[in-house]
Amino acid sequence: MKQVLGKVVSNSEVKPEYFLMEIEAPSLAGEAKPGQFLTIRCGNATSPLLRRPLGFHRINDPRFQVLYEVVGKGTRLLSEMKAGNKVDILGPMGNGFKIPDKPKDVVIVAGGIGVAPLVALAETLAGKKHKRIYAVIGARDRKSLLCERDFRDMGIETLVATDDGSCGRKCFATQILEDLFSAKRDFSPVIFACGPEAMLQKVAAIARKRKAEAYASLEENIACGVGACLGCAIETRSGYKLVCEDGPVFNLNEVVWR
Ligand SMILES: Cc1cc2nc3c(=O)[nH]c(=O)nc-3n(C[C@H](O)[C@H](O)[C@H](O)COP(=O)(O)OP(=O)(O)OC[C@H]3O[C@@H](n4cnc5c(N)ncnc54)[C@H](O)[C@@H]3O)c2cc1C
Ligand code: FES
Repeated sequence: MKQVLGKVVSNSEVKPEYFLMEIEAPSLAGEAKPGQFLTIRCGNATSPLLRRPLGFHRINDPRFQVLYEVVGKGTRLLSEMKAGNKVDILGPMGNGFKIPDKPKDVVIVAGGIGVAPLVALAETLAGKKHKRIYAVIGARDRKSLLCERDFRDMGIETLVATDDGSCGRKCFATQILEDLFSAKRDFSPVIFACGPEAMLQKVAAIARKRKAEAYASLEENIACGVGACLGCAIETRSGYKLVCEDGPVFNLNEVVWR
């Protein structure tokens, strides 16, 4: 992990309140793996005091991209940055996704902005020999649906669920995951997920029922980011673990939900 001053290459609004920022930071981009994250200083001075964590959305050394939703002060300040601005970044942090070494079926399940780190994962998976890769993307509505084109352009079979039915099926992403299992015989995929906790709990339940391996990138409030404050602890079957140090990717069969 290192602290670098990256250069903003571009920062544009891809959908209302969702921004894609490209940053040039050769030493950091060269080390980053899908599922790892960085922490970024969003303001110049002491406000907001804490760096904000973001996952790597696409990694293309010497650059990488972050895809983020504006939800508060930090991400609002980030959205106001312009090409040429310098950003103070710490990373890469965390464990990242473990890529299966044998060809397997894979299902990627994304909810909302949780899709952000799964695109970097899909790029790595698509470059390896896997039997079939499916991406299931869930969003509130068409306006907040992200990255459908990214997955399709990688040749990944992409299935969309929206809460209001304005795009794809009117259901939750987890319903599509359930239906994939029901429709296919001898289907024993590895599942990779990121999204709201309610979605991850459901993915965990489906994986348990179907005896499938499932991993998810969890989001907890990150303060120090380096295992010092214990503020990001979660309970697992093997005791308390830190999202910033032991995660953010965990085996979903291990997580004990509150
Ligand atoms: C490992 C990791 C990777 C992440 N990757 C991404 C990413 O790629 N793209 C992205 O848009 N966001 C990502 N997040 C969430 C992102 O860090 C928060 O949205 C951001 O810190 C909010 O900062 P803010 O100052 O704008 O909002 P704040 O003012 O801090 O908070 C505004 C609202 O957002 C809620 N919030 C803050 N942090 C989180 C969080 N971690 N999870 C859920 N709700 C939160 C607060 O409770 C509050 O309601 C990630 C979080 C983690 C832990
Ligand atoms: S954020 Fe401080 S220990 Fe994880």
